[in-house]
Amino acid sequence: MRVRPFVPNDIPAVASIVREALRENYPTSLYLDIHRWWRDGFLVADLDGHPIGFLAAVISADGQARILMFAVTSSFRKRGFGSQLMNAFVQVCAMRGIRTIELEVRISNDEAIHFYKRYGFAIAGVLEKFYTDGEDGYKMIKHF
Ligand SMILES: CC(C)(COP(=O)(O)OP(=O)(O)OC[C@H]1O[C@@H](n2cnc3c(N)ncnc32)[C@H](O)[C@@H]1OP(=O)(O)O)[C@@H](O)C(=O)NCCC(=O)NCCS
Repeated sequence: MRVRPFVPNDIPAVASIVREALRENYPTSLYLDIHRWWRDGFLVADLDGHPIGFLAAVISADGQARILMFAVTSSFRKRGFGSQLMNAFVQVCAMRGIRTIELEVRISNDEAIHFYKRYGFAIAGVLEKFYTDGEDGYKMIKHF
């Protein structure tokens, strides 16, 4: 597996990971917008030419990045691919002078919360009814 920058040709594969892993359906334009906002912050985990995971982030304020989406196809989890994506992203942030990474996660998503804590993220607050189905979210933050 190699981590590489996202290219627009990845959209069908990335959208299918989003449907399966995040249960969301976004228009093609969203992926193109995120890519345009911060090219280096949109990374794909590529296994023999097939995207099996990705991480998409934007610069949300000066010196601050926000992870918008992060997922690995379920059949490829727990093999270190998510860690490789996160490590590559932290390197991109360091090179860009980012000092804080923020993200939101469903309070029921124990697996992801556990993963993020291992990467130095801490729960910084509760976002009430953050998700469209009414579930609360945690805001998690990592400082460099
Ligand atoms: C969060 C997510 C991206 C992590 O991806 P992943 O590829 O499973 O991550 P990793 O394999 O690097 O790490 C996951 C676990 O597998 C373990 N692992 C890694 N390589 C392993 C291996 N070769 N054998 C056994 N276990 C292994 C890791 O130690 C880690 O365990 P821990 O969480 O108990 O510490 C993934 O769970 C996911 O896509 N979830 C659904 C989408 C989602 O919720 N995204 C976040 C929304 S905010």
